[in-house]
Amino acid sequence: MMRRAQIKGWGKYLPEKIVTNHDLARFVDTSDEWITERTGIKERRQRGEGETTTSMAVAAAHDALAVAGITPADLNLIIVANSSPDYLLPSPANFIQHALGATCPAFTIAAGCSGWVYGLTTAHQFIQTGAYTNVLVIGVEIISYALDYTDRTTCVLFGDAAAAVVLQPATDGSGVLTFELGSDGSQAHNLWVPGGGTVNPVSQSVVDNREHYIRMNGQEVARFAMRKLLSCLQNITAQAGMTPADLDLIIPHQANLRIIEMAARHLDLPMDKFFVNVHKYANTSAASIPLALVEAIEQGRIKPGDTIGMVAFGSGLSWAGAVMQVGVREPTLASVNGNGHAKVTI
Ligand code: ACO
Repeated sequence: MMRRAQIKGWGKYLPEKIVTNHDLARFVDTSDEWITERTGIKERRQRGEGETTTSMAVAAAHDALAVAGITPADLNLIIVANSSPDYLLPSPANFIQHALGATCPAFTIAAGCSGWVYGLTTAHQFIQTGAYTNVLVIGVEIISYALDYTDRTTCVLFGDAAAAVVLQPATDGSGVLTFELGSDGSQAHNLWVPGGGTVNPVSQSVVDNREHYIRMNGQEVARFAMRKLLSCLQNITAQAGMTPADLDLIIPHQANLRIIEMAARHLDLPMDKFFVNVHKYANTSAASIPLALVEAIEQGRIKPGDTIGMVAFGSGLSWAGAVMQVGVREPTLASVNGNGHAKVTI
């Protein structure tokens, strides 16, 4: 039987600080009504004093390792999906590896909100070839640092979070069944940070023009997101010999509830087929899919033998999707998640 990457451990970290729509409306020209109606978002988390990309990733990783029953020394590879690094150089993966006390290789994937699914499929390749046995894939973002709080069209949409998964080989036919990765660089400027790179290095004028913050053409990105959510879901399920209706749970990128509702309508599927937590955390970019996955496990929405579909889209513009089957003989595991100590079963 083919070796496939299977989820054996999971963990999440959420900063304690909650910023509600009402909080934002005190200093941004917006309202709870507008944000709720257009996005479904009610609140988001924001990193507190001393919290870094590394500290948040490490907290989520420790939980994932504990659930899997392994230590950092057992890891063969760490993949970090991130677009909000502690420093521009080196990549966050190196800081996280050191802080975890691991000695394995570590690298970062910068593919915006699609990054974690890119990381999952990359880990799957290493596991499938037999090169590695224990791979940690982390999605972490402190996206709040790149938000322009004078731009109401972007600053209300994002939140900070981290989530991590330990992948190990399954040989019972379960694990990652299919995937699709995509990039359309012709649309790069629809979601980008125009300043701070080599073309437009940090300068007084970059700061004065607020070019070190995220800029987004929301309508273009929403159009792209809608198209790719549908086509990617259809492609990855077709490759697995099924349709989206056959999936037990769909975990879409948590950017906007209205996009998810439109996808459900187009596919003629009930909303309870889709996992949703965007109302609590907003768009946490590369942390969005793993955070939703971890919460779905904790809430018992994913059971042994289930087939789940994950689809992300984001800056690039990029997209990435995967179909996974949960093993039927997975043991009952006690999760030690720092944010709730939930006892969960997969
Ligand atoms: N509060 C109040 N009014 C607002 C706000 C706000 N926060 N934001 C925009 N508006 C106003 C606009 O100024 C505009 O006013 P005008 O008509 O007077 O000019 C009006 O609301 C409508 O603006 P639109 O941009 O047309 O609003 P739309 O309905 O398209 O919704 C939104 C905007 C929510 C951003 C939507 O386009 C969207 O969800 N886009 C996709 C976002 C996304 O998924 N991003 C992925 C990021 S992934 C990554 O990699 C980081």
